[in-house]
Order: sequence, then C-alpha cells, then structure tokens
Amino acid sequence: PMRLGVMASGSGSNFEAIAQAIRDQQLNAQIQTVIYNNPGAGVVARADRFGVGHQLFDHRQFPSREALDAAIVSALQAADVDWVIMAGWMRIVTPILINAFPNRVLNIHPSLLPSFRGIRAVEQALAAGVKVTGCTVHLVVPEVDAGEIIMQAAVPVLIDDTAATLQQRIHTQEHVIYPRAIALCCDRI
Ligand code: GAR
Repeated sequence: PMRLGVMASGSGSNFEAIAQAIRDQQLNAQIQTVIYNNPGAGVVARADRFGVGHQLFDHRQFPSREALDAAIVSALQAADVDWVIMAGWMRIVTPILINAFPNRVLNIHPSLLPSFRGIRAVEQALAAGVKVTGCTVHLVVPEVDAGEIIMQAAVPVLIDDTAATLQQRIHTQEHVIYPRAIALCCDRI
C-alpha cells in the first residue's frame, strides 16, 4: 500500500473520508501520520478514532514558512511517506516541502480551478455570482492552486446559498473525489 502523510489545519472531514475509504478497501494505502498546525484542530479526534498518529507543527513557533516546512519534511520522511496529502492545510507551502516530494504532493481546493484560487474560495464564488462551482484535487506547485488538475466535481450554487450551505455541498463532493483521486495518482506512478 501507498504510504500517505496527511496535512490538515481544521476539522479533518477530508482526512476522515480518506481514512474511511482505506478501511473500506476502496483505496490501497495507509496513513502514516497526520501533520496539523492548529492546537485543538478537529482532525486530532478523528485521527484518534482511526488509530492514526498525529504531530503538531504550530506555525506560530517557527521563524519562517521554510523553517516550518523543513520540520514537516523531516517528520514526513521519518514516517517514510510516499505521498503528501494536503486536506484543508491552510498554510502556503514552499519549495522546501514540494521539492522533497516531487510530484507527490496533492491538495484539495473548494472551487473549480483555475477559478477562485487562494483563500475564501467559496465566498469568492458567491460574490462572483457563478451558478456552478465545485472542488478540485491538484498537484501542488509553488504557485498557489496552480498545479496539474487530477480530478474535479461540480456543485450547483442555489439561490439562497450562504457560504456555509455552499461549503457543505462542496464538502460532500470533496469526500467523494479525494479518495478516488489519490487512488488514481498512486496507480499511475
Ligand atoms: C476543504 O473544503 C478544503 O477544500 C479547504 O478546506 C476545507 C477543509 O475541510 N481547503 C482550502 O481552502 C485550501 N486553500 P476539512 O478540514 O473538513 O477537511
């Protein structure tokens, strides 16, 4: 099985979808470790429930993005990770991390890239008035949200959507495509 390192900042629902897909044998992989940066992040309780170890790297304790990434790379290499899976990782990553795992870092973004890169993508879509948005799994390159697209799912924007209701609809599709996209990537290498 492919050895995954998951990086998450928040609730970790995408982590859970991946862990569940592995448990259900829809994805031939194992999660070696969860890297998180916010003390108290919801992903910790989910990792505990799946018996996956986790390590806190609080970005506030590091002098630069590069120093944070170097520490994370050391942890991922110590865990013998093949693929790095950013699942709601809300920090910009540097070439320190990307070059340590060439073409082996994936991210999920809550829009149909190349539309609405960067932060608050769901709010950006609402403000633009688009009637369809979605989510994208892509390879990570130094330019934010610009790497090769692996898989996308479309989601309708409804008349009375708020950021919360639209985000929820996007999340449901993220949980479908992220495990599939990981399986696709692992098989083609
Ligand atoms: C997901 O919607 C993901 O697309 C988004 O954060 C959420 C994490 O949810 N990522 C970004 O916005 C990256 N810039 P989760 O913690 O429940 O998996």
